[in-house]
This record gives sequence, C-alpha cells and structure tokens, in this order.
Amino acid sequence: VDEVATINVVVHVLYRTTQENISDAQIQSQIDVLNEDFRKLNADAGNVPSMFAGLASDVKLQFKLATITPTGAPTNGITRKSSTKTSWGTNDAMKKASAGGTDPWDTKRYLNIWVCNIGGGILGYAQFPGGSAATDGVVVGPQYFGRVGYLSAPFDKGRTATHEVGHYLNLRHIWGDASCGNDYVADTPTQQTSNGGCPTFPKPTCNNSSDMFMNYMDYTNDACMNMFSVGQKDRMRALFVAGGVREAL
Ligand code: ARG
Ligand code: ZN
Ligand code: CA
Repeated sequence: VDEVATINVVVHVLYRTTQENISDAQIQSQIDVLNEDFRKLNADAGNVPSMFAGLASDVKLQFKLATITPTGAPTNGITRKSSTKTSWGTNDAMKKASAGGTDPWDTKRYLNIWVCNIGGGILGYAQFPGGSAATDGVVVGPQYFGRVGYLSAPFDKGRTATHEVGHYLNLRHIWGDASCGNDYVADTPTQQTSNGGCPTFPKPTCNNSSDMFMNYMDYTNDACMNMFSVGQKDRMRALFVAGGVREAL
C-alpha cells in the first residue's frame, strides 16, 4: 500500500528548569518538521545533489499530536512533569513513572516522544521496532526539539527527531555503524563512517561516487540534511503492513 498514513504522537516533557519546559509552540514546530521531512515538503528538498535527487522520497507518513488519551479523554497530546534530575541518561528512566519519568501511552496506538535532558552531549536516542513495549519510542533533548524556542545550533531545525523517528521505523545509520558497513538499504551508497558538520559534495569513500551525507540517517548538521531515500521509505513502510510491527490510523 502507498497511501498516506497518520501516526498519533504524544510528547512527554520532563523538566527541571523553565527552559526545559518547552512551549506548546516549540512542540508543534517539531510536528511540523516531521510532516515536512516525511512528505518531502521540506523547504531544503531542493538542496539534494542532482546525483541523488531521483532517490529523495516522499515517505507518505504524517504526524499528529493526539487528541484523545488512551482512556478516551480529550488531550492536546502533551504531558508535562517537573523533576529534580539534571540529566536522565540513556537507561530509559524517563519512560518509567517508578523512576521519576512518565509511563508510555499504548505504544501500539501512539508514538511516544520523551523530551528531557539526556546529558553526555547526546541529542536523542530511539528504540528499534520489536523491542519491549514498555520502552518503545523516542527521546530527544529539549534544546534539539523543534525549530522555535529553546534551541542549540547547529541542531536547531528539528532533524534530531526526524533521525530518531527513522530509527523507530527500523532505519540504521547510513554508514551501517561499521567501516563501509551495511544499513540494509540498497540505494544508499555504502560509506566509510559517519559525516559531521556540513561536507562539500561529492565526498567519495568505499568506492562510491559520494556519500549520501545529506541523508537524515547520517550525523551532519540539521541545516545540511534533507532527504530519506526510496529504499529507506520502503524499509519504513514495510512495518505498516497488516499485522506489522507499527500501526497507523
Ligand atoms: N546522535 C543521535 C543518534 O544517533 C542523533 C543525531 C542527530 N543528528 C542531527 N543532525 N540532528 O540517534
Ligand atoms: Zn542515530
Ligand atoms: Ca546502503
């Protein structure tokens, strides 16, 4: 199937400082970025080099803040909780009320996104499909979430959540987390390692014509990433078949 599918999102904000308690507008700006990036409506789609332009894909997924809670009550799709924690780490404590965090909403029906300071310079992390339901979802630091409000350049255009939702939908890093590694996507050129900053095109490695360093699953700056490939789209959408791992409305 190739219809546009909608994913309901709940954002759980965990904050110590008032800055970390990001605004509804900042959260909505992240939803807007996801809707642009996963529909190839991003303003920088024209920056894809011509070598890769034919591979840039409309993934046909859209995102919407939940309007109904798991128990049927109206909601704006945002939960907020104050905490005394300065950083949460990557052990999933933010996903557990018993550890001071917020329990996920039914992970079959909602994409859960926790916004909290992870620490250690980590922008975000995600769980691949097929893992424990209790920890399913995406975590992003408040200053890397959305594109208006409390932000930290050069990760201030909402691409961390685009990248993490890519992982949530089964995408590996484009370099396969190894030297000339495998990302299980045929149309992304094999590349030696991660790219950072904003490289100059072309950048050949591993006998390719250029790394696809402008792909959301590389490590380049937010302003320098602008595409998912057709192969990545197929890999993500394979999750939404009947009885698949991910469900959409
Ligand atoms: N380090 C994170 C991860 O591997 C996110 C990287 C996001 N990159 C960006 N340009 N915002 O999941
Ligand atoms: Zn990643
Ligand atoms: Ca590949």
